[in-house]
Amino acid sequence: MLEVQAVSKAFRGIHAIEDVSFRIEPNSITSLIGPNGAGKTTMINVITGVLAPTRGALLFAGQPIAGRRPHQVASLGIRRTFQTVRLFDKLTVRENLTVGGYRQLSGRRWLHRFLPMNLGDAAGRRRADEVLAMFDLTALADEIATDLPYGTQRRVELARALMGRPRFALLDEPAAGMNEKETAQLVRDVRRIRDEGVTVLLVEHDMSMVMSVSDKVVVLNFGRKIAEGTPGEVQRNPDVIASYLGSDDA
Ligand SMILES: Nc1ncnc2c1ncn2[C@@H]1O[C@H](COP(=O)(O)OP(=O)(O)OP(=O)(O)O)[C@@H](O)[C@H]1O
Ligand SMILES: [Mg+2]
Repeated sequence: MLEVQAVSKAFRGIHAIEDVSFRIEPNSITSLIGPNGAGKTTMINVITGVLAPTRGALLFAGQPIAGRRPHQVASLGIRRTFQTVRLFDKLTVRENLTVGGYRQLSGRRWLHRFLPMNLGDAAGRRRADEVLAMFDLTALADEIATDLPYGTQRRVELARALMGRPRFALLDEPAAGMNEKETAQLVRDVRRIRDEGVTVLLVEHDMSMVMSVSDKVVVLNFGRKIAEGTPGEVQRNPDVIASYLGSDDA
């Protein structure tokens, strides 16, 4: 689904990503882990077109995408969630899905302002019902999203990313700030997304989540890939233990 080939990204002297390569198989869950500042969010930004790589190539379903604009990347069926919650204030859960779905599809930040508050077209409403049910959010559909517990808000964001039936979803620390019960629900959500045919790239610090959901784990440290393999292989890798799993960070 995605091939990252020798990608580097530098910001004025800081090598956020250095010569990183990995592959993501269709319909799999791949986790990208590493200490704070390892380059994980930068990699998501490079894949989604927010940043252009300094060097290297990215192939999505065989097509080169490096340097394309975010809305062009989105139009190929790639969606992401952010490290911090970015829901619309004063809109219900359902409105966040329908309006957010349009916004993500159009790639235009301002478009939601011109949409009627009562939610897009019939197809959009049907898809919202489907996605709400998929995430067990139907009972909360008419609540103001930002009034809900933080963990639920994060799950609404994830649901919103699914509105446009993406082929590939990139999730930036979805479990951050979640309690144990919310994280368990999130694990089910991520598996359900994969079972719907979506390929997932998960950036996450919660190691029990990473080890239980991932088909493959890629480990970054100071912008470089230090390991890649199944959860079991990565957990036994001495470099990973020394630089990450053995530290207080994990
Ligand atoms: N826009 C930017 N301008 C300058 N430096 C940046 C920028 N974005 C990221 N960096 C730097 O690049 C490095 C990698 O940052 P990145 O946010 O990708 O790390 P991360 O692995 O997502 O960390 P965290 O786990 O804390 O979210 C850091 O040193 C960071 O300070
Ligand atoms: Mg980050």
